[in-house]
Amino acid sequence: MMNGKPFANKIVVISGGATGLGLEMAKKIGSYGATIVILSRNEERLNDAVESLKKEGINAHYYVCDVRDHVKVDETVQEIWNGLGPINCLINNAAGNFISRTEDLSVKAFETVIGIVLMGTIHLSLSVGKMWIKEQIKGSILNITTTYSWTGSGYVTPSAAAKGGVTAFTRSLASEWGSRGIRVNAIAPGPFKTEGAWKRLVPSEVIEKEMTKRVPLGRLGNPEEISELAAYLLSDYSGYINGDVVTIDGGEWIYGGGQFNQLSTLPDEFWESLKESRKKIQSN
Ligand code: HXC
Ligand code: NAP
Repeated sequence: MMNGKPFANKIVVISGGATGLGLEMAKKIGSYGATIVILSRNEERLNDAVESLKKEGINAHYYVCDVRDHVKVDETVQEIWNGLGPINCLINNAAGNFISRTEDLSVKAFETVIGIVLMGTIHLSLSVGKMWIKEQIKGSILNITTTYSWTGSGYVTPSAAAKGGVTAFTRSLASEWGSRGIRVNAIAPGPFKTEGAWKRLVPSEVIEKEMTKRVPLGRLGNPEEISELAAYLLSDYSGYINGDVVTIDGGEWIYGGGQFNQLSTLPDEFWESLKESRKKIQSN
């Protein structure tokens, strides 16, 4: 979509970049010339991901870092800065989530999900943002939230609470740090079939079918579609977009809100008979 190498000489840090949507974004942004740095907990997955990125000609590095640990996050950011150079862009993509009835959850379960999703986003943004402000460097942050960050959703209440916080944090930080040359945006994805999400949230084909039915476009998202959007929002091509949350869900959440949208499940015969009865009423 974009011309040339808009990320040439830029260092892009992606939390949770070894799997799923994070890895797709790493591939796309790397193909646009970025040096990619991925962070997460599992070293084997990180190593495999870096090898696969290198095979595509991308300059890629990894650091083992649990984003819940702010001391480790600060150390990692310093290590990257000293070893590779100033960070230019950050994608807060790491997440934890699972389906459960809320009454079955412990406090630790809430702390775990909120720790990864909301505090992880805050830890990395603070650490990198403070460096940008100190060194007077412009930067761009992209947070990965969800559409239920504004509707809420049952059965994923820790994630909904945390993602709601990420959306509010995105907009708040954009207002405050825009004057420092730091843009902060977010993407709110609908359903994208990744291994990490599916094994914890969509454990059966029946649930997948029901989920797909809610999408007006009638299909799940393609990771390629999110990675191109992420590259654009992070790059200077979107230099005047700040504080926005871009939805990419095939129309799913809007569909869920519209009072009459369920009528799309009715067969053509229903609409034909409705037309006929209207004609009869008009002719009487
Ligand atoms: C109830 C659960 C649970 C479950 C864990 N817990 N899984 N409670 N139902 N399915 C509880 C545990 O009992 C424990 O509390 C606490 O949560 C912490 O669990 P641990 O297993 O010790 O945590 P940890 O090893 O840190 O693993 C974190 C995790 C795990 C979030 C639980 O799932 C993970 O590593 N996830 C990372 C990847 C991920 O989630 N990807 C999906 C992103 S998709 P107690 O009190 O018992 O000690 C997404 C949007 C999807 O976010 C939208 C789809 C359309
Ligand atoms: P995923 O593959 O499970 O990605 C989650 C990543 O976060 C993993 O690489 C995981 O790696 C990392 N992570 C988890 N806990 C961490 C921690 N404490 N510190 C550092 N990294 C951690 O799932 P995905 O579907 O690609 O999700 C990517 C993003 O999209 C998430 O923000 C998710 O909420 C969002 N999203 C996805 C969907 C969807 O349908 N797939 C929909 C809406 C929003 P380790 O386990 O190795 O640490």
